[in-house]
Amino acid sequence: MKLLVVGGGGREHAIIRSLKKNPQVETVYALPGNGGIAADATCVPIGATDIDKIVEFAVANAVDYAVVAPDDPLVLGCVDALEAKGVPCFGPRANAAIIEGSKVFSKNLMKQYGIPTARYEVFEDMAAALAYLETAPIPTVIKADGLALGKGVIIAQTREEAFTAVRDMMENGMFGASGSRVVIEEFLTGPEVSVLAFTDGKVVRPMVSSMDHKRIGDHDTGLNTGGMGTVAPNPYYTPEVAERCMKEIFLPTMNAMNAENRTFKGCLYFGLMLTPNGPKVIEYNCRFGDPETQVVLPLLESDLLTVMQATTNGTLADTEVRFADKHACCVITASAGYPVSYKKGLPMTMTPEAAAHTYVAGAKLVDGQLLTSGGRVTGTTAIADSLEEAIAEAYRLAQGVTFEGAYRRSDIGQRALQAVK
Ligand code: AMP
Ligand code: GLY
Repeated sequence: MKLLVVGGGGREHAIIRSLKKNPQVETVYALPGNGGIAADATCVPIGATDIDKIVEFAVANAVDYAVVAPDDPLVLGCVDALEAKGVPCFGPRANAAIIEGSKVFSKNLMKQYGIPTARYEVFEDMAAALAYLETAPIPTVIKADGLALGKGVIIAQTREEAFTAVRDMMENGMFGASGSRVVIEEFLTGPEVSVLAFTDGKVVRPMVSSMDHKRIGDHDTGLNTGGMGTVAPNPYYTPEVAERCMKEIFLPTMNAMNAENRTFKGCLYFGLMLTPNGPKVIEYNCRFGDPETQVVLPLLESDLLTVMQATTNGTLADTEVRFADKHACCVITASAGYPVSYKKGLPMTMTPEAAAHTYVAGAKLVDGQLLTSGGRVTGTTAIADSLEEAIAEAYRLAQGVTFEGAYRRSDIGQRALQAVK
């Protein structure tokens, strides 16, 4: 079989490695992939949002199955366009990807169908938003409506910060058109859990839970990033919590999307907060999380391609989705200065042992030499029988990734470890 994977980060590298475990897979094309992915797939320089060229390539190369991994092409209708040319795909159509593409849509969906989430108000008018903030409880949370590279969320600790955030989004266009509508919502507290779930619109098959580490600094300090590391499973996600989430959140969300004629097929990501009043949805993503995927897929024992095809065909109920009873830890190695400004083009090396456990997020290959090309450069994953061993092994392996200024948080997994002690 010939497969095509749209995207070019660590998540896509993890997806490609898992897909290749199926002996039927002969070729995997990555569009655009990256310099590290090139070791595992044929990289083709077509951007992830260049939908016309992606479709043209898939047809010309008789691709049997396509996986659309990132949010932007999903929201732009990449799956719809590929399906229209007869290419079966993993991923939601645009009318379902809106669950991530518009926060206003997802908040209204949750309100209408009684799915637990933070209380909120939507504003299209800045004066009204500012007036509301005069008396809103502080801290408060301000979110740009549209996709904003995971940066469109401001937790305002003071009223002044809240005013500034609204002005930045609605007047100064900090997040472009994404910020012309904003959601202002209640600040929730509690441990966060990421749950990725396969769904074909008939059943929901949750994957092993995970915990992201979003801040750049140790002990969750400093700026938000795309994620500096992950562990799976998440110790806060007990079987009791899982059962409650299935009943109160996962199935109601699938049913709500069906009722809206927006059947969601693919990977639905539930960003949850376990509040004192029960689990609540912080956000939905219409795709695999990054770097959650780098700990979740290595624990998948079932064949990924078979499971993906079952979500496309609507036969997920008859397909086994089994995870190893082990622990995984992924440590991100980032460029010095990330997430603000950082150098690119620095030569990097990986020992063969590290490379075998490392997913490459931001590197290009120039004359056989890997050069850094992004903020997050690699994610190194270890699997072990205990969380403690997985953390130690991931850090040991990550030492094998070197470039000038390579930065790693030193405490990935420590919060999870405290939770089980
Ligand atoms: P996002 O970029 O949407 O993943 O959100 C970034 C982070 O903001 C989340 O991981 C949460 O830690 C935090 N967050 C979002 N919404 C809320 C909320 N209503 N209350 C507290 N924290 C929140
Ligand atoms: N790790 C969070 C995300 O993929 O959005």
